[in-house]
Amino acid sequence: MTSRIPHFYDLPLQERRQKILEAAPALKPELLAAWSEGGLAAETADSMIENVIGVHSLPLGIALNFIVNGREVLIPMAIEEPSVVAGASFMAKLARAGGGFFATADPPQMIGQIQILGLADPPSARLRIYEHKAELLAEADEVDPLLKRLGGGARDLQVRLIEDSPIGPFLVVHLIYDVRDAMGANAVNTACERLAPRLEQISGGKVHLRILSNLADRRLARARVRIPAEALAFDEYTGEEVRDGIIAAWAFAAADPYRAATHNKGIMNGIDAVVIATGNDWRAVEAGAHAYAARSGRYTSLSAWGKDEQGHLVGSLELPLAVGIVGGATKVHPAARAAIQLMGVKTAAELAEIIVSVGLAQNLAALRALATEGIQRGHMSLHARQVAIAAGASGELIEKIAARMVAERTIRIDRAEELLREFTSNPSHEG
Ligand code: MEV
Repeated sequence: MTSRIPHFYDLPLQERRQKILEAAPALKPELLAAWSEGGLAAETADSMIENVIGVHSLPLGIALNFIVNGREVLIPMAIEEPSVVAGASFMAKLARAGGGFFATADPPQMIGQIQILGLADPPSARLRIYEHKAELLAEADEVDPLLKRLGGGARDLQVRLIEDSPIGPFLVVHLIYDVRDAMGANAVNTACERLAPRLEQISGGKVHLRILSNLADRRLARARVRIPAEALAFDEYTGEEVRDGIIAAWAFAAADPYRAATHNKGIMNGIDAVVIATGNDWRAVEAGAHAYAARSGRYTSLSAWGKDEQGHLVGSLELPLAVGIVGGATKVHPAARAAIQLMGVKTAAELAEIIVSVGLAQNLAALRALATEGIQRGHMSLHARQVAIAAGASGELIEKIAARMVAERTIRIDRAEELLREFTSNPSHEG
């Protein structure tokens, strides 16, 4: 199979669906239907959260051209922002010259935290807990027999003494738990709650919080890419200019938190879109990413860009990625199931490897645009369509009004309304 589908962008929506079925024979047609019908029945939604009155939809686009670890993959992205899917697809196309993206993911180990208060002698209590480590791990291991059968379960236990706190010293136990192909919050939270009474006996303190940490820094995913400088050339820009512009843009984010926040937001445009399309918890992924970006004590870029000895642009990205392919919405939501099936992923680690690659591609798309023509040009035509729709345009008028606003470089709702009035009072107007 190939993730290259020439002219996909220009095809009518129905034909795009057909192309996806042809390109990914493993995708069951009824799962593709999940995307055409909004994906989630209100009755299913009713069993997922409280007070349901309906469902909320987002556009679902397919990122093309990706090769991740030598495998061609079509990537579903759920996102409302124009240019994101096109940006990722375009950068993945450039990346093909260097073999695509090379990605790895750590074993799926999550961290659960158990806070222990009210200790007369926290340092001694800390050591006493270590003396019972084997017993505590064995108990935590019992929590989820299915997970254990699949090779997951408790892996390690660490005890931290937090001295500098507004309420004085206390202990935090970190339970390291292998959650296999799950995101893992449920298994970890249950295990933390299970250990609490025994930890109180051993420490003589009072267990307070028992909850997963979203700084999942034992479950990192990383990707790298190499792009020949000449592939970056366009319009009046030489490949070297674009490459050096990208590196200078990255240096800005590496040195300045104000820029790093936006730079990382661009990375998360790609990451969240796939996280959402697969029914995963994007707030967890966001929290982990930004906490990881601040791990040195100063918030900085999650990615790095430079050049190799041949002058090729090289980029890398590393961040925690707690995503699963079993449990929760990933299994209940038909569109999430379709997403997993389309990508053909068999493990959570494989999904993380694809997601981190999309994040890197997205970052490159943003930096390339920012370092050259700016991002507005690429954004304009789709943005103009959205403004035209917001002004009340439908059918052919959307494209007509959008094209006129782009030509005038004035994309505003008042102008769209004016044009709508003009075109509807004079339908033969050529625009
Ligand atoms: C917009 O959603 C994302 C960018 O601002 C990212 C960046 O500035 O790197 C274009």
